[in-house]
Amino acid sequence: MRKIRKAVFPIGGLGTRFLPATKSMPKEMLTVVDRPLIQYAVDEAREAGIEQFIFVTSRGKSLIDDHFDHAFELEETMTRRGKSLSILDSTRSSPGDITIVRQQEPLGLGHAVWCARRIVGDEPFAVLLPDDLMVGRPGCLKQMVDAYAELGGNLICAEEVAPEDTSKYGIITPGESLGSITEVLGLVEKPAPEAAPSNLGVIGRYILQPEVMDILASQEEGAGGEIQLTDALAQLIGQQRFHGVTFSGRRYDCGDKSGFITATLALALERPELAPAIRAFMATA
Ligand code: UTP
Repeated sequence: MRKIRKAVFPIGGLGTRFLPATKSMPKEMLTVVDRPLIQYAVDEAREAGIEQFIFVTSRGKSLIDDHFDHAFELEETMTRRGKSLSILDSTRSSPGDITIVRQQEPLGLGHAVWCARRIVGDEPFAVLLPDDLMVGRPGCLKQMVDAYAELGGNLICAEEVAPEDTSKYGIITPGESLGSITEVLGLVEKPAPEAAPSNLGVIGRYILQPEVMDILASQEEGAGGEIQLTDALAQLIGQQRFHGVTFSGRRYDCGDKSGFITATLALALERPELAPAIRAFMATA
């Protein structure tokens, strides 16, 4: 079985739910405690053994490229002042590790993944949506890579969502289930609660076979007028192995304001230097 070496980060979206903050700043640079969302996702991917990071970006996202570049003046000044550079370690990518691909128009998540087809080539790959901040040990993608070593095929991260929230997610028609693994028999993008086949939702982590790119090439617009990744994946079911992996850990939906604020509080409370002040404030709130 081929190792998962490449990960696609579709970050071409407009982030309208965070306006005006995201008018000129990419949503993925919103900061939870002291790291932007994109960095959590990149760190998670690196832990899972990813060697090539493919950012599918759009206009106005160049701050993200800079975040993973060397910052000569900053680093020189810090060194001169005797400050350690280790805090910057995971942001200083090696030459060739990061590839930037432009999505010229925000035509949807499926289209963003397809924009990376030439860099992905003919090998299985991971997809990470940085909006979903996954906190777990090991990290979410590492758990999925371990499951992939057993199962192969296509894997999606699955999570039970509130029945009234099915219209916000791709929803799985589940087959046999064993421990954290569920066979996927069908997928529907954003069904109304009464039409949903289950309340097992697709979360922003995937391990996919390269054939999905061929399906995406001719994919029509789906829900919301966008080219949906879920619709393309649904076509692979029956042709290739397909499973959902329930992640052991916590997910914060940082594409949404309340999820983002919850993530900030939860991660701050895990920091011994911050927790007492935050607990004291919350006790009075
Ligand atoms: P969202 O549905 O959260 O859309 O996309 P969005 O534009 O980022 O945010 P809102 O809803 O307007 O606030 C889910 C993921 O798919 C990417 C986004 O960047 C995000 O990581 N995406 C979406 C693209 O890369 N391109 C697109 O055309 C659409």
